[in-house]
Amino acid sequence: MELTAFADVVEAQRIPTLVRLSDNLYAVVFRLMKLVPARHILRQAESSGLLTADTTVVETTSGTFGLALAMQCALSGHRLVLVSDPVIDARLHRQLTHLGATVDIVRHPAEHGGFQASRLARVEEIRAGLPASFCPEQYSNPEQPMSYALVADLLWERLGQVDCLIGPVGSGGSMCGTARHLRQACPDLTAVGVDAHLSVLFGQPDGHRVLRGLGNSMMPANLDHTEFDEVHWLDTATAFAATRDLYRSRALFMGPTSGASYFVGSWWAARHPDAVTVVMLPDEGHRYVDTVYDDVWLAANGLGDPVAQREPTVVTDPRPAGAGWSRMGWARRTLAEATGSGDPLPAGAL
Ligand SMILES: Cc1ncc(COP(=O)(O)O)c(C=O)c1O
Repeated sequence: MELTAFADVVEAQRIPTLVRLSDNLYAVVFRLMKLVPARHILRQAESSGLLTADTTVVETTSGTFGLALAMQCALSGHRLVLVSDPVIDARLHRQLTHLGATVDIVRHPAEHGGFQASRLARVEEIRAGLPASFCPEQYSNPEQPMSYALVADLLWERLGQVDCLIGPVGSGGSMCGTARHLRQACPDLTAVGVDAHLSVLFGQPDGHRVLRGLGNSMMPANLDHTEFDEVHWLDTATAFAATRDLYRSRALFMGPTSGASYFVGSWWAARHPDAVTVVMLPDEGHRYVDTVYDDVWLAANGLGDPVAQREPTVVTDPRPAGAGWSRMGWARRTLAEATGSGDPLPAGAL
């Protein structure tokens, strides 16, 4: 056993742990997955001269990317302004301010694109008032998916052939970046994206979502639909129950996007016993102790009893994908091809 001395905590914690869950199912366990792009993007910006000691980093986020940036900026000494909205949880808000970040809360959603659009407008406003600023732009910066070459390399190094990669999709960076890079060594890799209902990412109409971290109200440029072979939509109660099951049965204390990933991954691995299947587990459970891990909160929010669905409902169009667990053979098509062409799926896509 070797004790590695890392240069700092971001360097140490951006490296995931690989845990074997069954004969053919592995989990990539992150304490905070977004440390991977946060460090990579800021380092790239420094080396290209876009980020100097006097530059303020400004980004829109209500989630884990903000925390990762705040950790990185605390270490590098850069001033950080994070634009968020009222759904930011109090715990995260406090962590960010303790790390020295300024958190700017946008109070009203934009008419088109909701809070995400009004947050982007606020970022531009703040930047206009600063002499030097840098925006990591996690939704559109190609360095974001690129940073996950690190994860693909680790998987190839440790596992060799990987047959299937499954993970939640929010900006698309982690799944697209890891799959794209891993396919250089494993060209037949099946990539399975996990989304929430009422998320626009794979063609559903936008709507209110309780499950955060995966799903989106706007289409991120970093989501390359042609990387995906299959898409699953999961309801919140099922994702939460799977998160708790992951803790109870594997002692892995993770957040709900990990639960969603694990749920789909367990099903996929059982269906393909000869395939080496890998699930991405993006963050730890601490932020969700008062929600996902609280029986009273779950019952009060009507999320305590997931519909027990042993198999997903198979759909060929995302729009009527329903409210439970559904699945669509995406077959590496663009969004327009998958939702608009009406062409039959290639043989074996489902
Ligand atoms: C906890 C969590 N899981 C999953 C995701 C989705 O990852 P990506 O943005 O790489 O698609 C995010 C994105 O913010 C997240 O915060």
